[in-house]
Amino acid sequence: MSLGRKLDPRPIGAMTTVVDLVDHYFYAYNAARLREAAQILVEKILEPDVTVGLTLTGAITPTGLGTAALVPLIRAGFVDWIVSTGANLYHDMHRSLGFELFQTSPYVDDYRLREEHIIRIYDIVFDQDVLLKSDAFLRRCLEGPEFQRQMTTAELHYHLGKYTREREHALATPYTSILTAAYEAGVPLYTSSPGDSTIGMNVAALAMAGNKLRFDVEGDVNETTSIVYDAKHRGGKSAVIILGGGSPKNFILQTEPQIQEIMGIPEKGHDYFLQFTDARPDTGGLSGATPSEAMTWGKVDPEQLPDSVVCYVDSTIAFPILTAYALAKRGPRPLKRLYDRRVEMLAALQHAYDQYRPDDAADIPDEAREQGGGQAIGRSSLDVEASEAQD
Ligand SMILES: NC(=O)c1ccc[n+]([C@@H]2O[C@H](COP(=O)([O-])OP(=O)(O)OC[C@H]3O[C@@H](n4cnc5c(N)ncnc54)[C@H](O)[C@@H]3O)[C@@H](O)[C@H]2O)c1
Repeated sequence: MSLGRKLDPRPIGAMTTVVDLVDHYFYAYNAARLREAAQILVEKILEPDVTVGLTLTGAITPTGLGTAALVPLIRAGFVDWIVSTGANLYHDMHRSLGFELFQTSPYVDDYRLREEHIIRIYDIVFDQDVLLKSDAFLRRCLEGPEFQRQMTTAELHYHLGKYTREREHALATPYTSILTAAYEAGVPLYTSSPGDSTIGMNVAALAMAGNKLRFDVEGDVNETTSIVYDAKHRGGKSAVIILGGGSPKNFILQTEPQIQEIMGIPEKGHDYFLQFTDARPDTGGLSGATPSEAMTWGKVDPEQLPDSVVCYVDSTIAFPILTAYALAKRGPRPLKRLYDRRVEMLAALQHAYDQYRPDDAADIPDEAREQGGGQAIGRSSLDVEASEAQD
């Protein structure tokens, strides 16, 4: 039996680079998982035929890793679409609007911070004014004519990106926000729970003041599904890179069961799955669910399971390493500009759905039709549909 690669440690030197460190010094445990993830990224995922989706959870952007890591990846064409929490996009705007965030100790006196109107995210602090002024900017944008309708979160973020870009240019700031970079690169940017962040809170308050902006959550599901369907039915592959977990993790992965289980279209699952998280699998939560578990749901292609890695590490450590490694090892890819192709991709999904749409009546067991009762979930709703049809 082969015992695998020999562990052959050498001294780290003054000239050791990030690439050396990953390739030759990440020997075991989660360092080895990070090495495997980085190598799959550069050797397989960044091939031209792979559509790469990335999810963002946890307080990643307040740290600066939006500007520092995600923006360079977007610009290099390494990330084709994104699902983020609203909070990450909101907090990412502060710097590009000219506000400042500071490093501190996580053991500061929170009572004193509260008295002085200082907000804390673990070891990051900023003045409450940063929030109030960011909110005012956001509301001014959202009052614009282009926002006065129902839209997907990709459209919302695209239009916001136009405004953050203008502001960044006016301030000549060195900080580019994710919104701006995604707008420029045509990278569609979704939020899986749009009401659950300060962006959603401002949209809700404005609705009470007569603003016409509404979220199109079904549109988000269909658009994200069409991105994965487009990648696969054109003969390409789909990769997901998951920072943290949470609702964005499911939102990106559910595109596959949406294609297969709900729409009835033949498909096998995402091809590559890299996750950087602290979430454990043994509590049953989706955040900690492994690629193998995801495979049972049709989320990951069984044949591609060896190309999936879960790395138990703080993503604020993994993400800059992964970014530096990828940029050092691969030249830029042409931008896929999926934002500009949304209508075309949706039409292709619609066409496939029209072809494969499941016959629900045929799937209800005969006994359930005849007997009704508790187990016949479909019966009462079928009856309603039948009587509506007669009306
Ligand atoms: N984080 C914030 O500062 C903040 C602020 C306002 C609103 N919110 C809202 O709260 C909701 C969820 O918050 P969340 O994004 O903070 O995620 P979360 O706390 O729900 O975490 C999601 C998953 O990612 C993991 N995770 C988080 N940070 C990680 C890290 N650094 N390294 C590895 N794994 C990590 C968690 O363990 C969990 O499994 C979102 O809807 C967001 O918009 C968050």
